[in-house]
Amino acid sequence: MSTETKPSYSPGLAGVVAGETAICWVDPNAGLMYRGYDIHEMAKQANFEEVAYLLLNGELPNAQQLIDFGKQIAAERALPEPVLEMIRLLPKTMHPMDVLRTGVSMLAGFDSDLNDHSHDANVRKAIRLIARVSSLITDAWRISQDQELIADDNTLTHAGNFLYKLTGKKPETWQIRMLDTIFILYADHEFNASTFAARVTASTLADMYAACTSACGTLKGPLHGGANEESMKMLDEIKTPENAEKWMMDALAKKAKIMGFGHRVYKEGDSRVPIMREIARDYGKRIGKENWVPICEKLESTMEREKGLCANVDLYAAPVFTMFGFPSELNTPIFAVSRVAGWCAHVTEQHDHNRLIRPRSLYVGPAERPYPGMSSNGAK
Ligand code: COA
Repeated sequence: MSTETKPSYSPGLAGVVAGETAICWVDPNAGLMYRGYDIHEMAKQANFEEVAYLLLNGELPNAQQLIDFGKQIAAERALPEPVLEMIRLLPKTMHPMDVLRTGVSMLAGFDSDLNDHSHDANVRKAIRLIARVSSLITDAWRISQDQELIADDNTLTHAGNFLYKLTGKKPETWQIRMLDTIFILYADHEFNASTFAARVTASTLADMYAACTSACGTLKGPLHGGANEESMKMLDEIKTPENAEKWMMDALAKKAKIMGFGHRVYKEGDSRVPIMREIARDYGKRIGKENWVPICEKLESTMEREKGLCANVDLYAAPVFTMFGFPSELNTPIFAVSRVAGWCAHVTEQHDHNRLIRPRSLYVGPAERPYPGMSSNGAK
């Protein structure tokens, strides 16, 4: 007979503080800080490497440290040949997030630091993972399209090299600036689902690749990272600002979940939306595709009026990625190019101060009852 009193319970762990972190703070009132620095100040000036260094090391790099960090990432970009061979064996129709998860898992076998969970070894692995997640996405996409692989251009930043390796074209300076800003916005978000999955895995003293494999699997879901792919399907269906309100009203009448809206923590708006909206507006002006922002704005005002819910960053990331020319299956993997920095910082922090993450569940099954014995189930 159970003697345990019923513990308190919060479905979906809403509002539960599951750990401490010095990496990132999400302010429910539309704020976001990385190690004390407001992303609104960093987003337009910093580059991704500077933010990744900050997340991993706790402080901003000086000029020389930033150059060295960029070189360290560049030196780790090439994928081992067996990993490329494995990618060539995968079905061409496999979703890029599944390819990424498989690739991250396989890369574990090529890292001699794999089972060393010391701080320094974790930072070395983080640099390799940041470099190679980007290559896994660009190379696997080109393989799936029967295109030749493009050699890295290490004179470009991480964002610039990503664009170049994916498309084979040298990106414009303004495109690199925009992608750096997007990578900065996506780099970390405290205990979001994929980062939490990574931390749970790391808390068993499993390695960083195991943790990032868990994180990739978790990021794929449409309630998390997968929302930026689903948002694009929605915007493609709506097509014009004139259709947006009716589309939203019909979807709400069917009690549908609208992708790119709502957030577990932000209730006064997602801190990243104003910056992403501006990028969408700017890109649209530059290439003469100014329809996307008015569609999103109409959806925003309708959702605000009907349900009091705000847009999240994925609503505006979707058209931005489309304007970059990315196929929408790559929207979530592109999120991972950046978020891997956050995952690795959190795994390092978890290993540095580890305690196994093992919550309880609330039992809601049948009350205790006598076992009738094997014969009663007709097995004899
Ligand atoms: N579309 C329609 N209704 C939504 C909604 C959405 N995107 N997000 C939340 N709601 C509704 C819920 O159904 C609920 O309504 P109810 O009280 O009538 O049941 C209410 O708003 C409160 O939401 P809740 O379910 O408590 O939110 P959550 O914290 O559990 O979920 C998300 C957060 C992000 C999973 C959820 O908002 C969602 O599914 N959004 C769409 C996916 C997405 O864009 N994800 C990316 C997040 S960055």
